[in-house]
Amino acid sequence: MLEPSPTLAMTAKARRMKIEGIDVVSFAAGEPDFNTPLPVCEAAERAIHDGQTKYTATAGILALREAISRKLARENNLDYGPDQVVVTCGAKHAVFSALQILVDPGDEVILIAPFWMTYVDQVRLAGGIPVIIQTGSDTGFSPTVEQIAGAITARTKAIVLNSPCNPTGAIIEKETLAGIGDLALRHGFWIVADEIYERLTYGHAYQSAAALGAEVAAQTITIGGVSKTYSMTGWRIGFAAAPLHVAKALCNLQDQVTSNANSIAQAAATAAYDLPDEFVTKMRNEFRDRRDLMVGLLRNIPGLACETPEGAFYVFPDVRACLSRFSTDAQLADYLLDAAHVATMPGSVFHGPGHLRLSYAASRQDIERGVARIGDALAQATR
Ligand SMILES: Cc1ncc(COP(=O)(O)O)c(C=O)c1O
Repeated sequence: MLEPSPTLAMTAKARRMKIEGIDVVSFAAGEPDFNTPLPVCEAAERAIHDGQTKYTATAGILALREAISRKLARENNLDYGPDQVVVTCGAKHAVFSALQILVDPGDEVILIAPFWMTYVDQVRLAGGIPVIIQTGSDTGFSPTVEQIAGAITARTKAIVLNSPCNPTGAIIEKETLAGIGDLALRHGFWIVADEIYERLTYGHAYQSAAALGAEVAAQTITIGGVSKTYSMTGWRIGFAAAPLHVAKALCNLQDQVTSNANSIAQAAATAAYDLPDEFVTKMRNEFRDRRDLMVGLLRNIPGLACETPEGAFYVFPDVRACLSRFSTDAQLADYLLDAAHVATMPGSVFHGPGHLRLSYAASRQDIERGVARIGDALAQATR
């Protein structure tokens, strides 16, 4: 049985409360709070008026696949031709298709917790068995190569890597990534590299898994998209880039499931990839400042321990010291929403119990008043 997405459920509850007139501060969002850049919207308008309103090739329009291929070369040091790129209905769809074509019933897929919970359901939907490796703040939420080696069996088909990570913001260091690449080559499993947050790293040169070398690239499906980088979550454009035979398999599957992603959104995404870097730089700098603000304020709250994450737009404080009155982090998140009108995500929904995920895709003013409310509510609860 599939459960409804808990993040979407929490966001929906916060939204309902807002509609009822309650002044909710939401740290639950999984999307940037900026507008989609104007040139991207204008490209979409042009596409409508130019009649780009029909089916496209399943893999996407050539202009977009070329733009993605150029982007991967320029920013990620990756060598994928346009025929190795499949445009999907968001990165979520790309991860789904990747697991569908790789995983046979009974195959094991290694996941590194805390993780985006969609992976577990998507592995199961493919008939696979999730094999979970737990990480904690002691290693900066990064796995060790030994941990991964210890999880490999004869049935290991793939590992899903998500760097920067939702929910922890952790980045997998190049040495660790190289160690994982070696294991993949030695044991013959695939790397599904969900790199959707790759442009949102703070002071870190980004290392794509497939850029470790041609051999690793031959066993990797690289996943990305415009949702987080260009504040385009609603447009539903992602991509998978893979060895040619794998790209063909992804395309064949997509032929029978969704056909092409939305044609107008494809035109918009093409314009996004051709934007000057300024938009992303501005957004990234703003996120970095908000992260620093949020981490600083959270650290002032007794009982909360908060690392400084290196990427994405989430912080993942340890709230175990506050859990004497609440038996779980989910109860704590409920209390914060009901009593303080602050929406957060319990860490347990990401397989990271004892934590909360707070998104700083929120205004500085909201960060200040929201964290102050959390501090007051926790002080009251522990009084
Ligand atoms: C780790 C991760 N991968 C993929 C996605 C989905 O991206 P998209 O909106 O492009 O489907 C998300 C969205 O929250 C995410 O956090």
